[in-house]
Formats: sequence, structure tokens, C-alpha cells
Amino acid sequence: MRIGITYNLKSDLPISSSVSVPEDAAEEFDHPETIEAIQEVLSKEGHEVHLLGGDLRVVEKIKEFGIEFVFNIAEGFQGRNREAHIPALLELLGIPYSGSDPLGLALTLDKALAKRIALSLWILTPKFWVLDELRSLCEIPDQFPFFVKPLWEGSSKGIRFSSRVENREQLEKEVKRLFDNYTRVPVLVEEYIPGRELTVAVIGNEPPEIFGIMELEFKNQKNKDFCYSLEVKRSWQDTVAYQFPAAISREAAQILERHALDLFKTFRLRDMARFDFRMNPDGKFYFLEVNPLPGLSPDSGDFVILAKKKGVSYSVLISRIFQTALGRYPSLFQANKQV
Ligand SMILES: Nc1ncnc2c1ncn2[C@@H]1O[C@H](COP(=O)(O)OP(=O)(O)OP(=O)(O)O)[C@@H](O)[C@H]1O
Ligand SMILES: [Mg+2]
Repeated sequence: MRIGITYNLKSDLPISSSVSVPEDAAEEFDHPETIEAIQEVLSKEGHEVHLLGGDLRVVEKIKEFGIEFVFNIAEGFQGRNREAHIPALLELLGIPYSGSDPLGLALTLDKALAKRIALSLWILTPKFWVLDELRSLCEIPDQFPFFVKPLWEGSSKGIRFSSRVENREQLEKEVKRLFDNYTRVPVLVEEYIPGRELTVAVIGNEPPEIFGIMELEFKNQKNKDFCYSLEVKRSWQDTVAYQFPAAISREAAQILERHALDLFKTFRLRDMARFDFRMNPDGKFYFLEVNPLPGLSPDSGDFVILAKKKGVSYSVLISRIFQTALGRYPSLFQANKQV
């Protein structure tokens, strides 16, 4: 089969001397090694694999190479629909692709909308306020600590150790920092949830299946609340201990699994997703956010780390995601089987 890979490279970030961008502007984008690793897995399975990038030239390249299927990991450049741009284009062109559809990707990128859906399913999520301007700070009650983050970013963009705020002065400073650096992105102020951090990986369709639950802790400070800030994500090899499977009771795991699957089905996500939760000291789970486009770097990224700890190699993981996506297109699936 002729497969295209869509993606954004860190080096693709549009550079304009007139606009200053935050130092983590390219954080969600991929290194060439990730694209090459995915290309290698698919090529070894006998496919002809083309690298399409993640801008409008994708359309010409699809025609030029006669692309039949797209493996999509493009994060998009801007706005809360950015992850949906390439899938929407592919839908318009009628090209089958891996991963969730535009609505699923856009809806989940807006963390407040995703939280409202979670609440409708009776899944707890931190109390929250969305600020469109600094003036709205007066709406926030004196219930510290809070956690402050951009409403629609990922890969810990905008999240630092200072995101946890203990008083009004810190809150104002943090909200201002986000407005100054991430223009046109509203700010989400959340109740801070103390306790443990767990991530749940899901793979599959009809039915989606729990791939695993992993706990994240600080390597050398096990008693300290974990915080996956940018500082920590960038130094994960030295700072993070990944516990797989997470040491939680079977009963707790069942609750978490049910939450993840309910959310996956309600958002109508496809093929894979990773759900982030906090578990407070009373053992209650709070939904933080969902990543339908989890990072697939061969050596970092929680989904890949979880897979490796489970004994699933990178090539088996990529192949499984690909086969899962292909399974949604029965005619392609049959044709591929005959190859
Ligand atoms: N309300 C909260 N209470 C406590 N900690 C929080 C809260 N919200 C976020 N965090 C911490 O900040 C981290 C990053 O937050 P979040 O998952 O929302 O950001 P992200 O950038 O979308 O992450 P990802 O890299 O998974 O896309 C969480 O993993 C958690 O450690
Ligand atoms: Mg997260």
C-alpha cells in the first residue's frame, strides 16, 4: 500500500522576526527521528511510505504519490482546531487516515470542553475557571492552591513549577505570564489536586481496550506530589520514575479503566488515546485531560514508555496502531491482508 505520514517537525515552526514566540513553541512537534522510525516500521511491512509534512502541500503530495492511507501525527500550527486541520483535509479528500477525527481532536484539545463532557459522565475533574482576560481574575475565589495552564496546549507548553500557585500574588503573576507568552489562548485555572498521577493508555475500536495504566513519580522524591511541568518533561530521564503497572488496587484500576473507556467512546475517539488523571489522598480520581494524538517518539513519550514497560516494542506498537486504524476501513484491510 502507498502510505503517507503527516507530521510537523520542530524545525517547521514558522519563524517571524516581528513576532516573539515562547521558548516552548515547538514543544509538541516531532524530531525527524520519530518520522523515520515510523517510516521504517511501515516500510518493513512491505509498504511504500512517503513523508508528506503537515502543510497545504500535503494535498499535492497525496496526488503525486497516489497515497492510499495516511498515518497522521501532525499537531498543527495554531489555534484549538490545529490538531484537526490535517484530518479535516484528509476527510475532504476522502483519504483514510489513522487516529481520531477532527471533532474528537478539537474537542479534547480544549481542556474545559473536555472537562464538561467528563462531568456529564459523572467523572470528577478539578473545579475550574476559564479566563479570557486579566480582569476576570476577580472571579476566582480564595481557595488556594490552584494550578494554572493554557486552555489548549499540550506537551506541558506553558506549564512550569510555578503553575501551582499558593496565593493571589502568585496567581496573578502566573496568569499574566501565560497571557503575555501564549497570545490568544485563554487561561485555565484549576483546583490543585494533590496526590498521585496516573496515565491510562487505550488502543482499539469496537471495542477500545485498556492498554495499560502507568503511574508517574519523581525519581528521587517519592513523597513529593508529582508535577509534569516542562522542566520535568525535558529532563524525564533523570527526574521521572515510571511505574508499570501502576501499584493501585484492582478496584481502583477498574474505576480508572471505566472512566477512560467511557470518555474514549463519548468523544468517539479512534485507534488510540492517553488519559491523564490525578488520584487524591482519599483515592478519588480526577480527570485532567486526554491526548488522542499522544507523542510517538521512539524513545520518549508516555505511551511509548508504557508500551516498552509492558514488553511491547516500538515496532509492534506502531504496527498495532496502523492495523487498528486500517481495521476501520474494511476494503483496505482486506486488500492489505492479501499482499
Ligand atoms: N489541576 C491539577 N492539579 C494538580 N496537578 C496538575 C493539575 N493540572 C495539571 N497538573 C500537572 O501538570 C501536568 C500537565 O498538565 P496537562 O496534562 O493538563 O498538560 P499537557 O501539556 O496537556 O500534557 P500532555 O503532555 O500530556 O499533553 C499534569 O501531568 C500534572 O502533573
Ligand atoms: Mg497531560
